[in-house]
Amino acid sequence: MPHNYYTGEKAELKIDGQVHELPVIVGTEGEKAIDIRSLRGQTGYVAFDSGYANTGSCISNITYLDGERGVLSYRGYDIAELAENCSFVEVAYLLDHGSLPTRAELGEFSQMLNDFAMIHEDMIRFFDSYPPKSPPMAILSSMVNSLCSFYPEMTENPLENIDRMSARLLSKVRTIAAFSYKKSLGYPVVYPRHDLSYCANFLNMMFDSPVRPYEINHKVVAALNKLLILHGDHEQNCSTSTVRMVGSARVNLYASVSAGISALWGPLHGGANQAVMEMLQSIHESGGDYRQYVERAKDPKDPFRLAGFGHRVYKTYDPRCRIIKQACDEVLDDLKFSDPLLDLAKELEEVALKDDYFVERNLYPNVDFYSGIIYRAIGIPTSMFTVMFALGRLPGWIAHWKEMWDDPAWRISRPRQVYIGPLSRPFVPIDQR
Ligand code: SDX
Repeated sequence: MPHNYYTGEKAELKIDGQVHELPVIVGTEGEKAIDIRSLRGQTGYVAFDSGYANTGSCISNITYLDGERGVLSYRGYDIAELAENCSFVEVAYLLDHGSLPTRAELGEFSQMLNDFAMIHEDMIRFFDSYPPKSPPMAILSSMVNSLCSFYPEMTENPLENIDRMSARLLSKVRTIAAFSYKKSLGYPVVYPRHDLSYCANFLNMMFDSPVRPYEINHKVVAALNKLLILHGDHEQNCSTSTVRMVGSARVNLYASVSAGISALWGPLHGGANQAVMEMLQSIHESGGDYRQYVERAKDPKDPFRLAGFGHRVYKTYDPRCRIIKQACDEVLDDLKFSDPLLDLAKELEEVALKDDYFVERNLYPNVDFYSGIIYRAIGIPTSMFTVMFALGRLPGWIAHWKEMWDDPAWRISRPRQVYIGPLSRPFVPIDQR
């Protein structure tokens, strides 16, 4: 039974001597919103909320997060349970279909991922045209957009093809990411294999070579599954909102996701995992004095911010960070890999969490603070950390794009503004200016 989010509650707004009633929406977890869709019609006013910190853009069934309590769940399942008990493919199915798959459904979905794992040979030649140091996120975004040219069928009625489109995207993005890494080294690509799982296939495509076979380490595969699950979705973050915004103009899934990849690239968003590693490396290389970085982060005149710290929604410890931090110790222990940057990160966290500046602003480590430690231990280059974030976030982007296309109340996203530019001026021909 779909949740009836209108409870009859009303909010009153008193403006220009008039009292206006606006309906209240209540979510299944008790979140409340004022439905202001009639605000301009009733009052002539628009609401103003740059950065949208106080504005809900949609009603969604996919992910719930509580920033005060540090709670995150996908389709009602707590993230810690999913990370502990599922594979990334199971969680991708959950996000996109709304329920965990039966063994038969999982088998069918895995078979589709396997069948869609190759990319068109013409696309592989695209890599040869990029300069050697091309940013991996630039390559990923353009390659994903190019899928529109190779698979035009999804521009016809997309919802009929959505399962094939989603599986194709999930599988091919993994291949594109691994191929772009091989190409960046000047090495031949390693093709996907039918006998490997999603994550094992990615690692094999990344690290196998004709002269040194890659040995699949099941603990590394488990760690990668966990990391990708933890990045699976996060409600209306910048990149997911971008996918919805672009998709709202009836843009196909591939082009919408390509835009989401560009949004994720930013150092304030998914690019933070790379920024954290670069920050830790520069602290380490300059003798490990992290205190000066903490002081710089606190200085309002210094644009430097502590990468991997703070969050628009979490005003307590990011539940994903807690799981990743624990996984760091497990993976490094399994791989007998000691990383001074992990010790440095822990010390930095400890100092920051005791510092009034961070405490007063509820600044805690977020999902990006420790994830790079595991990627580094696995052998993934820092330049590909945000690509890994995109790989994990893909099922979430797909789920939100699909939810929007399915929504009968769907409209193109088109925010309003408040103009403060010059009043009307008479035109002056150029020779009289
Ligand atoms: C992700 O939205 C999501 O869900 C994103 C994400 C997802 O899964 O999709 O969780 C993934 O993007 C995580 C965040 C990764 N980014 C970083 O780690 C970059 C560093 N963090 C900051 O830039 C910042 O915390 C943001 C961008 C994450 C949040 O910015 P907000 O919500 O706009 O917060 P703000 O800039 O208004 O900061 C409030 C105060 C300010 O100080 P005052 O003006 O009150 O004095 O806190 C300060 C900020 O200067 N502050 C920081 C800080 N983050 C905020 N000061 C130092 N270091 C920081 N990291």
